[in-house]
Amino acid sequence: MGKDVIIACDFASAKDTFNFLDLFEGKKPFVKIGMELFYAEGPEIVREIKRRGHKIFLDLKLHDIPNTVKKAMAVLSRLDVDMTNLHAGGTVPMMKAAIEGLTRPDGTRPLLIAVTQLTSTDQATMEHDLLIREPIDEVVMHYASCAKEAGLDGVVCSPLEAGKVHDRCGKDFVTVTPGVRFADGDVGDQKRVMTPAEAKKIGSDYIVVGRPITAAADPVLAYERCLREFVD
Ligand code: C5P
Repeated sequence: MGKDVIIACDFASAKDTFNFLDLFEGKKPFVKIGMELFYAEGPEIVREIKRRGHKIFLDLKLHDIPNTVKKAMAVLSRLDVDMTNLHAGGTVPMMKAAIEGLTRPDGTRPLLIAVTQLTSTDQATMEHDLLIREPIDEVVMHYASCAKEAGLDGVVCSPLEAGKVHDRCGKDFVTVTPGVRFADGDVGDQKRVMTPAEAKKIGSDYIVVGRPITAAADPVLAYERCLREFVD
């Protein structure tokens, strides 16, 4: 699995996004587009970033009945993104339908990654709101197993969970890990963080890095530092 650094382009507009990407000149980082930018700018922002030669992780976290997710995934697949995701809570039939929708006539498809439990959900809210009473670590691993059973490529997880996910689901099951910070950087609102070098050691396949790059005085240098620590 090719290790890479994915920059979370958490900008509010196309203008801000392109001002940021213009800084990279010849380089073409893998970028993540989330709900805020996609809902503000629509699919054209995806097409434009693709035209500029970037790989794209479209982070829309689909969760609906299987038929709806299948049809929505077919639309995302035609946008030619490289990676997209859904909530494993939609269950195995929904995840299988997603793969069907995502698969192009020639058999290729973007990587499909599952969100297990959101990191904003803790044991107490999971028990109270969702009536799930198992330990949250086990729930996360069980959802990862369901994603694997459905034929997905991997999960979004904390770098701290990446090793356990590989133990349970195999080393080829992809781990995409946010919560990455430089050793000398600001942690901000992330609670459980790892440096790019630690994420590499523990076996993350892709790290998703936002503010340590987007808010850096020199974003290109910060990106190159991530590549050096994580990929080289
Ligand atoms: O700026 P920062 O590096 O914290 O950005 C991390 C990115 O990863 C954001 O786009 C955030 O929404 C996303 N993310 C996360 N934690 C999760 C899932 C996604 O930080 N559990």
